[in-house]
Parts: sequence; C-alpha cells; structure tokens
Amino acid sequence: MKFYAAAVSAEPFSHPNDLLTVREVVARTGVVPSALRFYEARGLITAERNRGNQRLYRRHMLRRIALVLAARRLGIPLADVAEIFTTLPVDVPPSHRDWVRVSRIWKRQLADQRRYLVNLERQLTACIGCGCLSMKLCDLLNPDDRLRARGQGPVRLHDASERDDPA
Ligand code: FES
Repeated sequence: MKFYAAAVSAEPFSHPNDLLTVREVVARTGVVPSALRFYEARGLITAERNRGNQRLYRRHMLRRIALVLAARRLGIPLADVAEIFTTLPVDVPPSHRDWVRVSRIWKRQLADQRRYLVNLERQLTACIGCGCLSMKLCDLLNPDDRLRARGQGPVRLHDASERDDPA
C-alpha cells in the first residue's frame, strides 16, 4: 500500500513514456506478471528490457492493459482485442480519437452479441416448449440444418468415433 501511494503521488510528474517495472505495473493494474507476459506474447502490449534483461513497460501501456481488462469484462475475445490493437500506435499513447473509434467498434460488436443472445433465448424458450430435439428441425441443435452437408445419420457421433480411432 505504501508503494502504491508513492506511485500515485508521483503521477503529476509522470510522462506516458516513463518506464515502469513489472512490479509497478502489477501494483497499478492488479494484473499478475504471468498475465503481462501472456498479453505481450499475444501482441496486446510491448515491453522493453533493461541491462539486467528485466521487462520494462512504457507508462502508456497501462491504458492498453486497462482496455484489455475492460474488454474481458464485456466478453470481447482477446483475439478481437489483439486485432483492434494492431490499428493503434505502439510507440505513443493512443489518442482520444483512437479510443473513440475502438469503443464504437466494440459497441457494435456488443449490440450484435446482444441480438444473438436474444434470438438464442427466444429459440431456447420455444425448444423447452417443444422438446422434439430434432436435428432436422431444431435451430438450436442444428442451425440451418448445417449438419446435412456432413452426411446422413448421427454425424456428430461419427465424428467422435473417428477422433477416437488411433489409426
Ligand atoms: S426442441 Fe423442438 S425445435 Fe428445438
């Protein structure tokens, strides 16, 4: 807590390109070091190395991490976050305009997800009333009868038995 207070009190003199240690980033974000390494491996954040080969993060990476955490809470896949981050500058902090653009894209994505879930819920309600569990008719089990393209009969069971085949 003492360390955190010191970091906060240093804020007025901070610069986006200040280098922060892993420990400082962990203290600021609550993200564990292994998650930082994971985010780095996925291209979500970048790190530099000091002479002792320790990771150092530009202060503006805190924004990226905050956005990753926000995206996780919204249920946005990390792959989508990584994709959108490729459109953001890495060497300088993203501008307000960048963040507005990202938030608009994610808002659209969330609206699509919401529509999908509402439709799924509607279908589930119908299925509970129906109970036929027909692979041909039930949109929940077999949307648009897609399994038809994979052959006749219990194609999912065939797929499973092929996977188990050691040959
Ligand atoms: S269970 Fe009959 S339509 Fe889904």
